[in-house]
Amino acid sequence: MIVVKKISDVREAIKAQKAQGKTIGLVPTMGYLHEGHLSLVKKARENSDFVCASVFVNPIQFGPNEDYNKYPRDIERDIKLLEENGCDLVFIPSVEEMYPNERLTTVSVIKITNKLCGAYRPGHFDGVCTVVTKLFNIFTPDIAVFGQKDAQQVAVIKKMVEDLNIPVKIIASPIVRDKDGLALSSRNVYLSDDERHAALILNKSLKEAEKILKSGERNAENIISRVKNILESEPLCKIQYVSCVHPDTLEDLTAINDKALIAIACYIGNTRLIDNLLWSVD
Ligand code: PAJ
Repeated sequence: MIVVKKISDVREAIKAQKAQGKTIGLVPTMGYLHEGHLSLVKKARENSDFVCASVFVNPIQFGPNEDYNKYPRDIERDIKLLEENGCDLVFIPSVEEMYPNERLTTVSVIKITNKLCGAYRPGHFDGVCTVVTKLFNIFTPDIAVFGQKDAQQVAVIKKMVEDLNIPVKIIASPIVRDKDGLALSSRNVYLSDDERHAALILNKSLKEAEKILKSGERNAENIISRVKNILESEPLCKIQYVSCVHPDTLEDLTAINDKALIAIACYIGNTRLIDNLLWSVD
């Protein structure tokens, strides 16, 4: 696996691969990798010839009171895991490499970024869209893989790519969970044992939503209140939002027809966790 820190080295490596007719796959990450990230690498492997990952804790997507400084980092471990999982190149830029001068350009997707997480994390998706656009321009990948765990991020990136005619295919990959159902997240390391146990309530509430959807419930309000009731039964859990939206437009649904995204964000102690259920009739 090639390990590079400079944009110019990425460009050179990509040029050489493209000259051999290879397709390029990209998996953007902020590191502290787990099986969720590695499933994206596998998905990229299935859909492209030369698999690249980036590991960059992007400062501009964190709010002033968020966890940029304490975000977990272990680059040696990340390199080892990527190598073991069939990654061909990893890009590990410094902040100066990505943002060398005063930045006067922001990529901003409107409307769908004002809801769900975007409503509580002002500027977050501007930071995500700006860094992802930079990565797309650096790698010019044929495909890029994103996790369904961050369902709003998938919807926003897909819209950005469509609106700006960025020639990359966005592939969404399913949520990877621990054996007990907790969605894997780099932020799970913040949880104490009690909190880790309490955090299972997120998946439990979504399982109940799935159950009542399967039994024919189509009223979004009923589903939301059922999910809220379950979350509220856990004393360590504080709900930020529970929403039932269309997975592409993120518009609130009143009645559920063919597909729905039930998305939740909760605090477990001081740790903010998200999870979701992507549901469709089939
Ligand atoms: P990060 O949180 O490191 O996540 C990198 C990718 O891994 C994202 O596409 C995310 O959805 C996916 N992922 C995380 N946990 C997952 C899980 N349990 N199952 C499946 N996929 C999972 O998301 C970001 O970084 C950043 O916003 C980034 C896109 C890299 C831009 O800075």
